[in-house]
Amino acid sequence: MSEASLPENPPEKRARELRDLLNHHNYRYFVLDDPEISDAEYDRLMQELIDLENSHPELETPGSPTRRIGSPPLEKFDTITHPTPLLSLDKGISEADIHAFDQRVRRGLDNDEELSYTVEPKVDGVAVSLVYRNGVLESGATRGDGFTGELITENIRTIGSVPLVLRKDAEIPMPSFLDVRGEVYMNTDDFRELNRGRMEEGLSLFANPRNASAGSLRQLDSRITAQRPLKMFVYGVGHPDYLGSGSHGDTLRMLEKLGFPVNPLTEIRIPAEALVRYFHDIDAMRKHLAYEIDGIVVKVDAYEHQQRLGTTSRSPRWAIAVKFEAMQEQTRVRDIIVQVGRTGALTPVAVLEPVSIGGVTVSRASLHNEDEVRRKDVRIGDTVLVQRAGDVIPEITRVIPSYRSGSEQPFVMPQKCPACSQSAVRLTDEAVTRCMNAACPAQLKGNILHFASRSALDIEGLGKKLVWQLIEKNHVHSFADLFRLDVKTLESLDRMGRKSAENLLAAIETSKNVPLSRFLYALGIRNVGEHAARLIAERFGTIERVVSAGNEEIQAIDQIGPVAAESVRAFFDNPENRKTIEEAKRQGLRILPANEEVGGRTASTLSGHSFVLTGSLATMSRKAAQEKIEAAGGKVTGSVSSRTRFVVAGESPGSKIERAREIGVEVIGEERLIALLKEAGIS
Ligand code: IVH
Repeated sequence: MSEASLPENPPEKRARELRDLLNHHNYRYFVLDDPEISDAEYDRLMQELIDLENSHPELETPGSPTRRIGSPPLEKFDTITHPTPLLSLDKGISEADIHAFDQRVRRGLDNDEELSYTVEPKVDGVAVSLVYRNGVLESGATRGDGFTGELITENIRTIGSVPLVLRKDAEIPMPSFLDVRGEVYMNTDDFRELNRGRMEEGLSLFANPRNASAGSLRQLDSRITAQRPLKMFVYGVGHPDYLGSGSHGDTLRMLEKLGFPVNPLTEIRIPAEALVRYFHDIDAMRKHLAYEIDGIVVKVDAYEHQQRLGTTSRSPRWAIAVKFEAMQEQTRVRDIIVQVGRTGALTPVAVLEPVSIGGVTVSRASLHNEDEVRRKDVRIGDTVLVQRAGDVIPEITRVIPSYRSGSEQPFVMPQKCPACSQSAVRLTDEAVTRCMNAACPAQLKGNILHFASRSALDIEGLGKKLVWQLIEKNHVHSFADLFRLDVKTLESLDRMGRKSAENLLAAIETSKNVPLSRFLYALGIRNVGEHAARLIAERFGTIERVVSAGNEEIQAIDQIGPVAAESVRAFFDNPENRKTIEEAKRQGLRILPANEEVGGRTASTLSGHSFVLTGSLATMSRKAAQEKIEAAGGKVTGSVSSRTRFVVAGESPGSKIERAREIGVEVIGEERLIALLKEAGIS
């Protein structure tokens, strides 16, 4: 056909325009996350192209965005031999492994001074290899055994962030052949949503985002894959020559220009000294990321170095995966017991076969209440997935029903309190079942433990077992009795020597000077947390004034609602409670009025709290932070122990964070520190 005989807007031309437009907008949307047009406009363009291709089937091309919606199911997947094998990675788990890797690399290179590394998060998904010929996606394959994989091209095409045709870039000659490697994954939220939908339809659930990605990629019907929220990051090419760059970092930049999504947390050409910092940075970011990662990958940057180092049969000598500790593990429910809290609430708790999650051994997980056990359908004997996210209490994510043998026992909420055998009641409209016995020893134990806890009177050494003995042996009937204890009584208890008895008494002695806000919190009044206690203390100043304050006066405090006010009133209206406070005072308890000067310092909220600083802070030096904490009545120490109230983590924190997590000390950021200082009147 000659040019002159073409109609006004020939279908070929329009089809090409539409393909280019759609590919461009697809890139803006999925790769850059920065769309230029509305979804409706995109759909309209797509429909136009579909219609055009339907009426002119000869216009269909492998690079057409219409192919993203999937095609009729396959009988089975073909296999493909990878152009170059997909190797696996050596693994490390610690800072020491990073150092050892760097040392190995240096030895292998005869201590080349110019050595630098490119580092990437290790996204927890499914490895894929994508082949582009003359800029068009030709095939997509799974890793398989590393040499041959399954051909899943139709499924790969449905992934929005996979370019079907490469973008033209003035600086990069279009490669005639390109084998790109990457990871297909699913965002955690999308995964949850997918599972939620499956649950509604009565379908089996995916255990985690990685399984969901793998399952979605292995669909014979790509129209199903197209419905799944899959994403991809690329992290390398099969051979350095494909793009002709001299280093891995430059290759990643070029891949980006060609339209591929490269993980934005990648750092190119960093020195060996920065590797540990990167490892910790990414680990700290981990729980805030939209997708799951299980470590970092460190790669020698220069291809010349990579080639000199070579590979073993399995993995390259120039790369290592350094894994973080897993945050989710599988274990078995040995039993479901019921704990009685200080408010009398009966809480079902799963007793687990101990399992290490993220470096912490987990042997219990709260199931919160009866409805929650029902909802998750957790039974004694079940195999379950347990998750620990940061500082959060471990929880059972879900049961794995396929592991059931049939002998699992459903949980039944007891009708009687397991601690005092009196009746337990679940009121209408309440999720909790409660023990109604005010004298229940389990409630007393909870109250005493709360009274002695770090944010309250902070009595070191007064642990669960000890409190239980003190109650069982009738030494303690209220918190006031704590101040009456003597060495002889304490020594008579199990596993209590003279030294520990003396230490405990010293700790109790120290705790006798307590700021009003902490004392109010220590009382364990329902609906009165640390913050509310502080507000009330500031408003009334002394315990006497709080005791006599009217409901309306309390409610008039900004941020204190009627429920909290009523709880405060109810607590002090109870003569028993007032008597206990008087008794404690007789035993030497000094409730420091808010704003009273203690040794030249304000008896403020940080009073007596011990802080550990790690990493660099953005708005102040460590020294300034220390001075402020001290001015607020707190102290700063160098190492983390059970005495530490907060570890403040700045930029590039050190191993103190791990230590804190191990022993359950709260880790806070700079913002929270500033807020605490502000509450204490220091800015
Ligand atoms: S490099 C020769 N980089 O981890 C180097 N792998 O055993 C081969 N993975 O399943 C892999 N993120 O898909 C590399 N930034 C990354 C990665 C990464 C995730 C996966 C990979 C494979 C496993 C390596």
